[in-house]
Amino acid sequence: MDDIRPIIWNEDDKELILIDQRKLPNKLEYFTCKTYKDVVVAIKDMVVRGAPAIGVSAAYGMALAELENSDDEFICRAYKELKLTRPTAVNLFWALDKCMDSFKKGVNLLDEAKKIHEEDIQLCKKIGELGQTLFDDGDVILTHCNAGALATSAYGTALSAIRFAKYAGKNVSVISDETRPRLQGAKLTCFELHYEGIPTTAISDNTAGFLMKQGKIDKIIVGADRILSDYHVFNKIGTYSLAILAKYHNIPFYVAAPYSTFDFENTVEDIEIEQRSAEEVMYVDGVRIVAEGVPVINYAFDCTPPELITAIITEDKIIYPNKK
Ligand code: MRU
Repeated sequence: MDDIRPIIWNEDDKELILIDQRKLPNKLEYFTCKTYKDVVVAIKDMVVRGAPAIGVSAAYGMALAELENSDDEFICRAYKELKLTRPTAVNLFWALDKCMDSFKKGVNLLDEAKKIHEEDIQLCKKIGELGQTLFDDGDVILTHCNAGALATSAYGTALSAIRFAKYAGKNVSVISDETRPRLQGAKLTCFELHYEGIPTTAISDNTAGFLMKQGKIDKIIVGADRILSDYHVFNKIGTYSLAILAKYHNIPFYVAAPYSTFDFENTVEDIEIEQRSAEEVMYVDGVRIVAEGVPVINYAFDCTPPELITAIITEDKIIYPNKK
């Protein structure tokens, strides 16, 4: 899917065009943002999702705000509203702070957003080139959620490493967790990998352990929403369970992310794990599956400790958190 980009800046009409990821895989539709408030809606409603893609979109949100009104007060309001869209992925705050710094220095915010966008493409490409070295011909690779082109500006992070393994001539195939409750694995990862001709099989989340037990998974790779300086990794809910399963079955567990996903300031206790609406768990395709009156817990992310992680692939190095 390196030719399909989820984030497009329309220079003629000065608008942001996003693939509407809520509609995939059945419809390829676009969501147009003409104001920063449209970007706020797009991020909150998960028209666009995935840590790097959220960051890039938010940067364009700041650019749209400046095009509308470049008063300090208006820009600060846009910054604050965009910041409140989702709490866990650090790329959002990274991109917004970068834009705010640039604004204070008098740098044009559209130029800044375009720079962040282009840089993200290059970062993902480098992650792919480096990450693919960890894969061998014939590997069956399990992934969770969607850390692909749709979650970034192009290529993806975890899926970039898989793409580049294919470009290097390795015959790799993928097992994609469906990733309840939003089903990013089933709806997005399977779509983009199948589109690219990478053999991909969908499984329900609870099948992963049984496949590992049967020796049917060679490696696991996921993306990240935030990585702390001690290498705790925040990613889609279910990542932690997978990492424990991987440890038990002695399967390498890789995480791929660019520098914009690293948070060197906070500790585990400081991080807010997003909790989304109960409806996401209560309903499947509009049909209620949980009896009325039953409470629901719906964390969107979890935290995986470094001792469960074999390696973290960034754009310029492979980090081994447990090698002294
Ligand atoms: O809730 P989402 O779909 O935004 O969550 C996405 C993930 O957890 C991804 O794995 C992560 O953002 C990395 S994307 C390259």
